[in-house]
Amino acid sequence: MANEDILKKIISHCKEYGFVFQSSEIYDGLSAVYDYGQNGAELKNNIRQYWWAAMTQLNENIVGLDSAIFMHPTTWKASGHVDAFSDPLIDNKDSKKRYRADVLLEEYIQKIEDKVNKEVEKAAKRFGEKFDEKMYRETNPRILENSKKIDGVNLRMKAALESNNLSDIKLLIEECEIVCPVSGSRNWTEVRQFNLMFATEMGATADGSSKVYLRPETAQGIFVNFLNVQKTGRMKIPFGIAQTGKAFRNEIVARQFIFRMREFEQMEMQFFIKPGTEMQWYNHWKEKRLKWHLAMGIPENKYRFHDHLKLAHYANAACDIEFDFPMGFKELEGIHSRTDFDLGNHEKHSGKKLQYFDTEENKSFVPYVVETSIGLDRMFLAIISQSFCEEKVVSGENGEEAGERVVLKLPPFLAPVKVAVLPLIKKDGLPEKARIIMDSLKFDFRCYYEEKDTIGKRYRRMDAIGTPFCITIDHQTLLDNTVTLRYRDSMKQERISTDGIGEIIKDKVSLKQVLSRL
Ligand code: GAP
Repeated sequence: MANEDILKKIISHCKEYGFVFQSSEIYDGLSAVYDYGQNGAELKNNIRQYWWAAMTQLNENIVGLDSAIFMHPTTWKASGHVDAFSDPLIDNKDSKKRYRADVLLEEYIQKIEDKVNKEVEKAAKRFGEKFDEKMYRETNPRILENSKKIDGVNLRMKAALESNNLSDIKLLIEECEIVCPVSGSRNWTEVRQFNLMFATEMGATADGSSKVYLRPETAQGIFVNFLNVQKTGRMKIPFGIAQTGKAFRNEIVARQFIFRMREFEQMEMQFFIKPGTEMQWYNHWKEKRLKWHLAMGIPENKYRFHDHLKLAHYANAACDIEFDFPMGFKELEGIHSRTDFDLGNHEKHSGKKLQYFDTEENKSFVPYVVETSIGLDRMFLAIISQSFCEEKVVSGENGEEAGERVVLKLPPFLAPVKVAVLPLIKKDGLPEKARIIMDSLKFDFRCYYEEKDTIGKRYRRMDAIGTPFCITIDHQTLLDNTVTLRYRDSMKQERISTDGIGEIIKDKVSLKQVLSRL
């Protein structure tokens, strides 16, 4: 199935099962803004909780913060966002569609890379075990020519972006013969910079009000509170401050569902360190963050690192952790060595010292920072796409109805509902017994009670929202206090005593067992 079709299926599944709705849908929606429904809110909370616990509970030297969305406007001058937080945009005059100029070039490069990889794959099949990929890549003339093309475009794009040479970016787009995907034409406007921050007015009267921005990243709330937290928490360098919260960007090209939104949530951690140790900590956090992803049970080949060609205005080293989304490998998380850029600039603009006094060396310095920054919504999309699965069910298999099922094979600790409690029929005292069981479980787990429809239909509904366990209460339950426990992924069922259910479920769904892998 084409990747686009998979994404479409995921979007409609998210809507049908209460995970994600288009914002203000009754008014035909608001572009690139989404609401999380009853199951989506739970899944999102569980991801956030995993991140928060991994940061603030497992690291003695990382503490949390919850800073305001509105900040003093000078914050954004100091951080560089007023002057440099922009994307180069270009319009196609025929389709009137707007694109990020750098993204058009990146997609062009990606196409050539895909071609090269396909050629290598073909050769590997042709030559079998004797195939030497390295040698093939170094000697095959077509691959060499394409690699040269990729390097050439990359280098020129990087130079043009760094020197803000917008006319050269346009020239490059023309030379690469990039066409508008909608109109198919090369009728482009000039490239121009577009600031991504949303601005609004604070204060009651026009005279007395001042322009404020909706924060485009949560990180600045951490920087301006650096000394507050360090002093009140008596933190010693190296230490980190973690925060989750909303961020806002007026994205030029906002598409691909919750991948690129105008209102989204970030989970960021700033790690304050001694200048000169940044590469050591940068590598440390690269490793730690990948481990966090893999501990959820997502296969390693779904992830890769990508070093930034164009460094953001604040960074001296930066990479992305990319995930293999239905649209291909894309940025999921950023790890940035931000030097003393932010604290140094806040010192300059505020006139307040933002320094750390090192008692061992008896001197003060502005700490360097390594940051890890992940979009919660993107992590949500990664998890949903990884878990979404359409399967055939063979007739009679474990008593399941034959046909197809859609199942979300979510890591159990993230599932919105952990256990469904289902009386086989709506009479003979089964609902009452089911309620007793539900009452014994609901303090530990998010449970869901349902007695409507056939048991098969109820199983399918639970599969579709990723519920790892279903408990069925039948007539035998009334006789010997046993129930059927059904496992979501294998659809296996076993008869167990009600006394043991809590322990079995706890073993599989607890956050603790995932955290202990870190
Ligand atoms: N403080 C650094 C920072 O904000 P970034 O690379 O611009 O760095 C970090 O953003 C992460 O935030 C990204 O890796 C991505 O997961 C998420 N993110 C950024 N823009 C987003 C958007 N428009 N919609 C959804 N997530 C976004």
